[in-house]
Amino acid sequence: MRTVIESAFAKLNLTLDIFPRREDGYHPLKTVMQTVSLCDEVKISLESKPGRTLRCTWAEGYDGGELPQGEENLCWKAADAFFARTGKAPEGLSIRIKKRIPMEAGLAGGSSDAAAVLRGLNTLMGEPLDPFTLAEVGAQVGSDVPYCVLGGTALCEGRGEIVTILPPAPKLLITLCKPDFGISTKALYEKIDATEITDRPDNDAMLEALRTADASKIGSLLKNVFEPLAIADHPEIETIKQAMRSCGALGTQMTGSGSAVFGIFNIKEDAEAAARALSGKYKTFLAVSV
Ligand code: C5P
Repeated sequence: MRTVIESAFAKLNLTLDIFPRREDGYHPLKTVMQTVSLCDEVKISLESKPGRTLRCTWAEGYDGGELPQGEENLCWKAADAFFARTGKAPEGLSIRIKKRIPMEAGLAGGSSDAAAVLRGLNTLMGEPLDPFTLAEVGAQVGSDVPYCVLGGTALCEGRGEIVTILPPAPKLLITLCKPDFGISTKALYEKIDATEITDRPDNDAMLEALRTADASKIGSLLKNVFEPLAIADHPEIETIKQAMRSCGALGTQMTGSGSAVFGIFNIKEDAEAAARALSGKYKTFLAVSV
């Protein structure tokens, strides 16, 4: 048996701009993404015993509801896509996922696990694919998977699959807060079709703030066009943002299609105070950009 263990990092959308729906049903987008240290652990093993098993469990202290097992898990689809592309499949495969990233959060937990399976299989099978080809395979699995294969700081376009890697962001201290409710990504995309977006992110300014490692600017330029739509249905998101601001956040935002909200801080004690203030009511996590 040969095994690799991959960290599957959560992502944040520092900006998220969305344009009118394409004929294939997807929306073109332009988003600056950042991986953060909150991560799942994905253990991939090639086995001599034929067959495939996938088990997904919460890490101790991270319980967050029912998890997709077996074929239902995006990791299964990732393995299929990898074997189809390389034309090589092992006799037996075992995937064990230890979850910490909450689900239905906009943190790309499922996509990141799938990306970890692609990276892990590529390592175990002797690196038949370069990272960009591996990201291309990821596009068959989900829109966020190509970015998750590559990680770090990146500008993503197309339906998410056109990934431009940027120089690493400065070290950002992050507090994450996950409210109890989830938000349907599909429903938010449908809602945005019926909305005229007037307040869009300034991606060029964000790229410049990242280039100059200006954390305050990065904080002030956070913008997600989904956020006002989500707040209209769930005003709690605004309450969480206010709590983070009152603890000294440089900026706060819902990530992706939510429902998780993050704050960026430059003082560790402030980030910890925000997590403490919200932890009575919500799941909270401290993280840094990676
Ligand atoms: O690609 P993925 O399976 O992650 O997308 C889930 C759903 O989100 C799609 O079926 C589509 O409705 C919506 N979506 C979209 N535009 C994107 C990404 C996703 O409309 N760029």
